[in-house]
Amino acid sequence: MAAVGGVALHKPLGLLAELTHRCPLGCPYCSNPLALDARQDELDAATWHRVFHEAAALGVLQVHLSGGEPGARRDLVDIAAAAHAAGLYTNLITSAVGITDKTLDALAAAGLDHVQISIQDADASSADRIAGYDGAFARKRALAAAVVRLGLPLTVNAVVHRANIERIGEIVDLALALGASRVEIAHVQYYGWALKNRALLMPTPEQVERAAALVDELRARHRGRIVIDAVVPDYYARYPKPCVGGWGRRSLNVTPAGKVLPCHAAESIPGLEFWNVRDHSLADIWASSPAFNAFRGTAWMKQPCASCPRRELDFGGCRCQAFALTGDAAATDPVCHLAPDHAQVAELAAIRTDAPYVYRRM
Ligand code: SF4
Ligand code: FES
Repeated sequence: MAAVGGVALHKPLGLLAELTHRCPLGCPYCSNPLALDARQDELDAATWHRVFHEAAALGVLQVHLSGGEPGARRDLVDIAAAAHAAGLYTNLITSAVGITDKTLDALAAAGLDHVQISIQDADASSADRIAGYDGAFARKRALAAAVVRLGLPLTVNAVVHRANIERIGEIVDLALALGASRVEIAHVQYYGWALKNRALLMPTPEQVERAAALVDELRARHRGRIVIDAVVPDYYARYPKPCVGGWGRRSLNVTPAGKVLPCHAAESIPGLEFWNVRDHSLADIWASSPAFNAFRGTAWMKQPCASCPRRELDFGGCRCQAFALTGDAAATDPVCHLAPDHAQVAELAAIRTDAPYVYRRM
């Protein structure tokens, strides 16, 4: 394994290609950055083609075509074909709004390997209310049926929060009925836009406890029929998640305008210098970009992480969350019960309001 400045340089396995920030939905937990890339700044298909070949040469196995809503790109089929031609396993992450059946047929013919459809709830009116878009739920059902008809593997992804956490059983039933082979139950991550709605989205401790027990029961009940992946809400965890598998270790994100980020929220950390695929090769960025090297290895860690036996397991948690909650991106993620700032996590989780959502609109 190569090393940079004495720190082991792993090979990236996955690339998130954020093709556009444009999106018809207005989800209150949107993970796009606060400052969105404009349409005229988006990379063209030829540049994506080069990026995918560079990614494959670097060791990347999977590309996730994402956004925003990738269906907003008129050249989506060309881009998917380029990913397939580069030898990458190609996954489309979509809200389903903006992908017609005709586009899906063309994507399948271009070599698309997998489709992931996000749903907001198992209840149609609640789902459309959370998405801020009438008719979104019906479109998701229709696209899921088309995906299965084409024989493509389907994953259903549901972001869970106070308004839908009581319907996890129904969400899994819906995923089964749609023909999905995997369902991801992922709790909202509170940075970026979701921070604005934290008090509206935060579940109660009792809801979280019931949900965790239900997920265990559902896994046992549906073993062999569907894989259930679950991400517990950070704020109620004892240890933090190993965010993105460790900073600069396993994955990279390319933004619509070509900046390469170690994680989708990295631009929320001020002072990091991101390099752009328009100016550098992906291999050069992976090895030498200041942003990627900022939190690689363990030398940057402060106590208690610096001497903690878990530091190579969770890498000190999430840098973006550490910054969002403490103002210091090198701090221990406060969701860790050993973190000096841990007490504020419980205080923040206890703040809940029922005001209307602040929708994300471009
Ligand atoms: Fe992880 Fe740091 Fe907490 Fe140890 S102190 S468990 S390394 S976040
Ligand atoms: Fe950026 Fe966790 S989202 S490190």
